[in-house]
Amino acid sequence: MGERVIFCVDDEDIVLKSLKRELKKEFGDDFVVETAENGQDALELFEELLADQSDIPVMISDHIMPDMKGDELLRRIHELSPKTLKIMLTGQADLLAVTNAINHASLYRYIAKPWEATDLILTVKEAILKYDHERQLAEQNRLLHNMNAILEEQVKKRTAELEAQKQALALANASKDKFFSIIAHDLRTPFNGLIGMTQLFSENIEAYSLDDLKKGFEALQKTSKTVYELLENLLTWSRLQRGAIDYFPQEISPHRVAGTAIALFQANMEHKQIAIFNNLSPTVMVYADLNMINTVFRNLLSNALKFTPTGGAIHLSERENNEYIEIMVSDTGIGMKPEELEKLFRIDVKFIRVGTSGEKGTGLGLVLCKELVAQNHGNLWAESEAGKGTTFRFTLPKPPF
Ligand SMILES: Nc1ncnc2c1ncn2[C@@H]1O[C@H](COP(=O)(O)OP(=O)(O)OP(=O)(O)O)[C@@H](O)[C@H]1O
Ligand SMILES: [Mg+2]
Repeated sequence: MGERVIFCVDDEDIVLKSLKRELKKEFGDDFVVETAENGQDALELFEELLADQSDIPVMISDHIMPDMKGDELLRRIHELSPKTLKIMLTGQADLLAVTNAINHASLYRYIAKPWEATDLILTVKEAILKYDHERQLAEQNRLLHNMNAILEEQVKKRTAELEAQKQALALANASKDKFFSIIAHDLRTPFNGLIGMTQLFSENIEAYSLDDLKKGFEALQKTSKTVYELLENLLTWSRLQRGAIDYFPQEISPHRVAGTAIALFQANMEHKQIAIFNNLSPTVMVYADLNMINTVFRNLLSNALKFTPTGGAIHLSERENNEYIEIMVSDTGIGMKPEELEKLFRIDVKFIRVGTSGEKGTGLGLVLCKELVAQNHGNLWAESEAGKGTTFRFTLPKPPF
């Protein structure tokens, strides 16, 4: 901020000089006393001072002046600087001018000419005190206002954090509920079958022909396998949740990992007459955990085979950007409706269909894939159209140089 200024205007040189003298004597240490002899000069100088960032607490003006009268000058000064306190000097008791100045310039005081020096000094002193006091108040108000805004911002932020925590907790809770409901229903049902069948055999095995026994044991084997897969998936999921699965990222070739997974499905492919095209480039590498990505390919290929009718095709391909390799697994299968797509990857929502050849599943494959890809700093999502086919895409980081 520039200087602090007391501003005086009077057309009589003698008056102006004596005003300046008195004021300088009293306020000279802290204030500069600026003067002007007429309204026009006063306005110009006042504007210059404001432009220089001067602080002008007090303005004293004569009323009777040749070109611009004091009340008019003060009105215009008031427009420029409403906070400056205005004092008018009146020769005669010019009531109209004083009223004008009060109404239009928010006149602080008027002093009748000739004035007593002590009276003038006191009035100016009071005006400065009032001015400073009001400025302090305004500053405090501004600070309070700012603090309020900061507090409100903090409350908002905190509320959002709490809301996010609440949602995360709700999801964790829903996941836990789902976990137990899987154990209660999906595991219990096959166990009922196992117990029933083994009981029949153990109580009365002589009653069965070798052929019956063979079929019975095949059923037992199938059910045990399903239960075992479910258990495996549940275990993997719960270990992933607890961060208890080792993550050893290394440079791996998606082309090779996919090749290993495809070999596992050879019988399946022949049975359903489905061709898998591994169009992944043998030279493209990613930085990821081999076992985890192997599981992801197995699950996605198993789904593609399961939900594609006889005679279909599955294509594997990739594309590349600066940071990621994006891998696509596309099938020509039964696809999904938008509302079914929304249920994918969620442990709290059940969405299982049997495959086009009656293949059964646990409904956990994709939940696992999503988590596994996330552990590898990638993302997994799906695009699909009912009756047309489905494409799963996932990203994996490129190897560091
Ligand atoms: N490629 C696909 N085409 C059409 N639907 C699919 C495809 N992949 C998954 N789905 C749908 O999403 C559901 C969930 O898939 P997910 O892999 O999680 O479980 P699942 O395959 O049923 O069981 P599991 O993976 O244990 O064998 C499937 O039951 C199926 O309805
Ligand atoms: Mg699956």
